[in-house]
Amino acid sequence: MTMNGSNTNGSSNGTHATNGAHANGTSKYTPRGASGIGLHDYVPEMGYREYWYPGIEDRDVKRKPIALRILGDQVVFFRDTNDKVVALQDACPHRGAYLSGGISNGKGNNEFKGFITCPYHGYTYDGVGQCVAALTDGPNSKLAPKLKARNYPTQTHRGIVYIWMGQTEPVPLEEDVPAEFFDDEVAIESYVKIWPMNWSLTMENSRDSHNSKIHRGQFRRIFNFALFNRLPAFWEGTEITEEGDNYICIAPRVVKDQQQGYFPGINKKWPQHIWWRFRGSENPLKAQKKAFDNVRPGGLYRLPSIACPSLRFSTVLLRYFTPIDADNVRMFSFALKRVKKNPLVKLWWNIYYNCWWVYFNSPQSVNEKEDLPVQAVGALDPHSAQKLGATDAAIIFWRRRMPFKSRDAQRVWGTSTVEAATRSIEQQEDREAVEIPLLADDD
Ligand code: FES
Ligand SMILES: [Fe+2]
Repeated sequence: MTMNGSNTNGSSNGTHATNGAHANGTSKYTPRGASGIGLHDYVPEMGYREYWYPGIEDRDVKRKPIALRILGDQVVFFRDTNDKVVALQDACPHRGAYLSGGISNGKGNNEFKGFITCPYHGYTYDGVGQCVAALTDGPNSKLAPKLKARNYPTQTHRGIVYIWMGQTEPVPLEEDVPAEFFDDEVAIESYVKIWPMNWSLTMENSRDSHNSKIHRGQFRRIFNFALFNRLPAFWEGTEITEEGDNYICIAPRVVKDQQQGYFPGINKKWPQHIWWRFRGSENPLKAQKKAFDNVRPGGLYRLPSIACPSLRFSTVLLRYFTPIDADNVRMFSFALKRVKKNPLVKLWWNIYYNCWWVYFNSPQSVNEKEDLPVQAVGALDPHSAQKLGATDAAIIFWRRRMPFKSRDAQRVWGTSTVEAATRSIEQQEDREAVEIPLLADDD
């Protein structure tokens, strides 16, 4: 493992970001139950910093600068003299006015195309944050050359402006952004929304056991036929099917066609009614063969904040979470489809996505209406004491192991911090010593 992270975080074969497509074997991780690991013991509450994140959609930055909070930092985006979207700290190095204007309207801050002008005394900055004219200090200002606003490196790729939030040198974008985004046979649709919850909650939610409770009987599921699907009633555990330098693949253990369970404590079967569920569930192994990237078994958690909920079918929902602050996250939902450069398929997908998929499939109908309400601020307290079990194995891994695979750990945290934390985890695991048996491969 190198300390500079240049070859460790995006690629397991050292040549190109793989997003796990060519992994280094199945996971050696033995899942155990766990208590006393909160959401943020090792996972940073405001997100890992030494990474690229999707910041804003390129089309949203016009002549007027746009302010966003990202990982707790106040950032302003505008277009430089090359028309490239750039990002600076949203605080004027002169006396601290928001370059974007903040709650004022930022009047005149876009007077000079390619530059940003502070709404207070008119000090004007270029795309790298250098003060190039201090309007009210005169053309011969001695102060101007000394003022520099922090610049956040940006790169625009397929309509998304990515921003580097780290204090160390940026890595090539390909190390952080999954390989599908660089495949020109893949069409990408994006949907961006702010969710009022900590970013790590929605990451964990992307592949946990909530499906049969949350995604069930809602009437609008009639529109995507999911209402009639035969759903497994519960999971019998979670397996980490593959582990790479910066990701894990996750598969639930379900018993096929087990649509109800009997719960003696309440002397009831649950779900109580299933008579309308006639639509056959596909054998997961067969489904995997048809999947988008069928060498990766199951869902995905990938550093810094990328998740893919389930089997990758021919259309894949990949979500990249950009933390705003401790209680809000900007959710980038990407729908990926392999259209093989065929313009007709591409057009059909574009219409289908925009007229139906975005409303009645994952981004809105499923995620916003069903996943969001149970985890939002006011519905879930991430700081409560928690005890995790067999269906939470991937989450235990995400909280306990992934942080030390991160570039932050390698570049910033320092060896002694990492070693001390690893020791304390091992001691805790020995104390808990509740091993979760992997189930026999019988489904
Ligand atoms: S505070 Fe920005 S120019 Fe004075
Ligand atoms: Fe969900």
